[in-house]
Amino acid sequence: MEYAEIMKRKDELLARAPRPIPKDKLETEHKLYAARCRKSIEIFEKAKGIIPGGVQHNLSQNKPFPLAMDRAKGYKIWDVDGNEYLDYLLCGAPIILGHGYEPLDEKIIDLIRHKGPATGLTSEYELLAAEAIIKNMPGVEMVRFLQSGTEADMAALRIARAYTGKLKIIKIGGSYHGWSDQMVYSVHIPQTYNLEAKGVPGECFAHTVDVSPNDFEGLEKAFKDHQDKGGVAGVMVEPIGGESGAHPVHPDWNKTIRRLCDQYEALMIFDEVVTGFRLDMGGAQKYYNIIPDLTVLGKIITHGYPSSGAVAGKKDIMKVCAGSIGEKVFVGGTLAANPISMAACYYALKYMEENKAVEKAAAYADKLTGALNDLFATRPDLGFFVYNFGAIMHYMTTAFFSVDVKAPDALVQIFARKEVADNYQIVTMAHGLCTLAGTRMYACMQHDDEALKKTLSIWEYVLSLIPGE
Ligand SMILES: Cc1ncc(COP(=O)(O)O)c(C=O)c1O
Repeated sequence: MEYAEIMKRKDELLARAPRPIPKDKLETEHKLYAARCRKSIEIFEKAKGIIPGGVQHNLSQNKPFPLAMDRAKGYKIWDVDGNEYLDYLLCGAPIILGHGYEPLDEKIIDLIRHKGPATGLTSEYELLAAEAIIKNMPGVEMVRFLQSGTEADMAALRIARAYTGKLKIIKIGGSYHGWSDQMVYSVHIPQTYNLEAKGVPGECFAHTVDVSPNDFEGLEKAFKDHQDKGGVAGVMVEPIGGESGAHPVHPDWNKTIRRLCDQYEALMIFDEVVTGFRLDMGGAQKYYNIIPDLTVLGKIITHGYPSSGAVAGKKDIMKVCAGSIGEKVFVGGTLAANPISMAACYYALKYMEENKAVEKAAAYADKLTGALNDLFATRPDLGFFVYNFGAIMHYMTTAFFSVDVKAPDALVQIFARKEVADNYQIVTMAHGLCTLAGTRMYACMQHDDEALKKTLSIWEYVLSLIPGE
């Protein structure tokens, strides 16, 4: 679906009231879910006493309780009660070969058995992993591995400032670049500023410049206005739009950022934590043929194995990470680039390439997107729709991400719409379909026609619970 069509459908959805599942039906679904997931609930109840909120993954959907998972294989996951789910969460994007991809797991098991997990010294896998990334990504000549996407984003800001000698970072509203102090600003929804920044002193945002997506004028003004206030060091960009494309960007948006970065001698930073090796083996930079100065990578580069993050880019820029004390940009981490992560990176990228994993996952996503849109078209009163960027799918049922925060009742609207979408998600979970935040689905190369059929039948059921107008 093209940008203009997506925006039109979103506006139409926002113009409608959300369509809740009636209370009695919802109660039945909640009861069914709770009855199926007794062990998960038991674990949650105990965890609440010793883990804040009872769950470590507090960015995931955990209503009315988090599922405790037992195992995963291919595109399926099983909880501790033995329930099976079609998995479109895929750990939040990193799994594209499918869960438990044996050739990769064997390499890691072998490494642990014969070489041990870490020494704190270098290993050849660092070189092999860096070479594999460089080979695929057109904007990358050097790589510094870190331990998470959040860390890699933080490092990118520091490198941009050190290289340009400038101060300000433009952040696009609604985008997510991890949870570091400077970046927890207007996350999820544009113009929400410090709404989700509890515990972060206001001063931390002194040099974060918030620009809303597709605000071409505002973008240029931000560069101009800050020229005499330290200048813009970099623009942090999710290339398919904030929240992995939940806020799609105009086809000219990235090109304009590139042009303005060149004009004002700032670095264009592509956060490819989700798009790298999922949208294309060469990331969004290859897909759109727009070459950033810095690239941030995460989770998918180790395909679910821990310690996953990297900042990468052109040699002359990345060289600010080398040199003697006082000269170099200080980034690192005890377990950064440990042999397990590096072997996982090297072999994961190798198997993705050999299996054409990205193409296969994208082909499935295209097919599912088409089929779901056909299904949703049978209920034109709802206005639901799906769009995808390759293997990254977004489904819109209430468009809570897109509520205009300037509306007087914006927060009420957002929460009300989110609750309706969350309830759809609870029903899909209760029937064995796992997605992300009730709005997103990732595909892997193993999703097949059986997965497609099941997904459609679960959504058919959800639609049947929503009364007509
Ligand atoms: C675009 C983007 N950047 C950065 C991050 C943060 O990565 P991590 O969770 O590894 O810190 C995420 C996580 O979802 C992300 O989607």
